[in-house]
Amino acid sequence: MVDDNNKPVEFDRLIDSAVSRRSLLKMGGAVGATAFMGGVSGVAAAVNQATTLMSFDNIPTSTADDIMLPPGYRYDVLMSWGDPVLRGAPEFSRSNNAEAQAGQFGDNTDGMELYHLTNADGSMDPNRAVLAVNSEYYNDEYLFTHGEAAKTADDVRRGLYAHGVTVVELERNRNGEWAYKKSSNLNRRLHGYSEFELTGPVAGTEYVKTSEDTSGRRVLGTLNNCGASRTPWGTYLTCEENFNGYFGAPEGTTFTPAQQRYGLSTGGFGYQWWPHERRFNVAQEPNEANRFGWIVEIDPMNPNSTPKKRTALGRFKHENAAVTINKDGRAVVYMGDDERAEFIYKFVSRDLYDANNPSRNADLLEQGTLYAARFNENGSGDWLELTFGRNGLTPSNGFRDEADVLVRAREAATFVGATTMDRPEWVTVHPSAPMVLCALTNNSRRTAETTNGPNPRAENHFGQIVRWTPHNGDHTSDRFGWDLYAVAGNPTTQTGLYAGSDNITAENMFNSPDGLAFDRFGRLWIQTDGNFSNEGRYAGQGNNMMLCGDPVTGHIRRFMVGPVGCEVTGITFSDDHRAMMVGIQHPTGAWPNAGRDGVPRSSVITIYREDGGVIGA
Ligand code: FEO
Ligand code: CA
Ligand code: CA
Ligand code: CA
Repeated sequence: MVDDNNKPVEFDRLIDSAVSRRSLLKMGGAVGATAFMGGVSGVAAAVNQATTLMSFDNIPTSTADDIMLPPGYRYDVLMSWGDPVLRGAPEFSRSNNAEAQAGQFGDNTDGMELYHLTNADGSMDPNRAVLAVNSEYYNDEYLFTHGEAAKTADDVRRGLYAHGVTVVELERNRNGEWAYKKSSNLNRRLHGYSEFELTGPVAGTEYVKTSEDTSGRRVLGTLNNCGASRTPWGTYLTCEENFNGYFGAPEGTTFTPAQQRYGLSTGGFGYQWWPHERRFNVAQEPNEANRFGWIVEIDPMNPNSTPKKRTALGRFKHENAAVTINKDGRAVVYMGDDERAEFIYKFVSRDLYDANNPSRNADLLEQGTLYAARFNENGSGDWLELTFGRNGLTPSNGFRDEADVLVRAREAATFVGATTMDRPEWVTVHPSAPMVLCALTNNSRRTAETTNGPNPRAENHFGQIVRWTPHNGDHTSDRFGWDLYAVAGNPTTQTGLYAGSDNITAENMFNSPDGLAFDRFGRLWIQTDGNFSNEGRYAGQGNNMMLCGDPVTGHIRRFMVGPVGCEVTGITFSDDHRAMMVGIQHPTGAWPNAGRDGVPRSSVITIYREDGGVIGA
């Protein structure tokens, strides 16, 4: 049983098998693999039984340069990189300069959330909303006509403006179609030069003071904004992921172990910002990188508010954040750190959520306790507290104070014995049941010696989705039980563990789950960012895609396939779920046929049912 209290849980149809699977895995080698396939036969019955959660038909995979959807569905493009958002911004052109980009939708769309506006009488306006969207990074070959050649000062500024968050007002017309409003007073661009406030235990400490900000509280910019989340109190959480890539230093610069753990290097990802902007030169401003790698809270309804970097939630390569209110009223935030052999985290707020007095929740993420997850082999798990002075996080072990533990959360999690994971991407919490899932996208460097319960395969090219239930349904408990919801694989080219779990078939197979989100009806939407070669071990899997899973029966159906070269990432809904926004990041072909200057453009699309019904139902 997954629940360490031995109390049956509603979602454990697959769990008995998962536990036997794990014990069989321990047998190792070919015997273990054979036994694994035998061990999941009990799952097949559950997978093949009818699911009432989805009514659309599984669609075939595709290598076409187009969006593929089930019969009865259609889409349109809501907004593409470079579309004008702020008043006075020009239409997209490849020759736009930095100032143009500052008023346009950023590049490489990623996590997003939709917030309906409120009418004068306090009711929700079903037809007006704001959409907050992340822009994760940019592609040199599309942003600059000169590709990766040496950068000018304008190039660097344009690149910083192409990052961050875009907030736009949306309106639904009589046909039920959503469009964004250029020049709305609610529109906003946050980017590499916007002002952010560093808050929480790290704010104002020696670790985050720089020559430009001796207060340690005022940061310019948010970067590599990957996944996102909404809070029950109406704010937007944007997650800073691979911030290290923007920093660099002269050859010969040496890096501390902490800097190395977070991936800082002389060359970074080749952005070449540091010769132009001193703050990105690690040799000159070693603390600037400590001001990135945080969860950032934004009020999407107030364009004049200063967004806050919430240091109590720890510093790592934040993929996304999933917020839930525990039954005792505390806010709990689940988070993944997307790097090979990094960890899954949980934050529990000190104070209680107040549904009747929204303003009292404004700083709920300011104080609380951070934990890292340990997944035990027997299907139980423990949350290990990352508090200075606890669990050996003391000066004698090299941890100086609370701020140090939060800035170096990765090292603290290693120290307390958290379980290394196969690149944790999005986490999502079921809307009405105590169940949490996380996509573990893949891990080419996992070795036979380092496999563990939720990460059972060496050279994990396909990824898996881990699921856990908090002890007694209490998200603040330090115990949980876990199983694997799906082990992605290819049953047509692979054998044993690499063929995947029994809910993966020749018809629905995929690799590298990444985006993961429950809708309000409990449908689990799964987006992929994987190998789209359609060759070798990936033969038959086609382009990146979006699937829909039934968390109880294990059913998974393919709902959408993206165009050539893209990653599918980012998902949100109108309140009535009759419109679904999905992000198509870095396509490489002719789609979306925007026609301007012939470059593919990352875009947000809106998916509708032709009969106007609820998506997926
Ligand atoms: Fe930005 Fe791990 O994806
Ligand atoms: Ca991702
Ligand atoms: Ca990914
Ligand atoms: Ca990406």
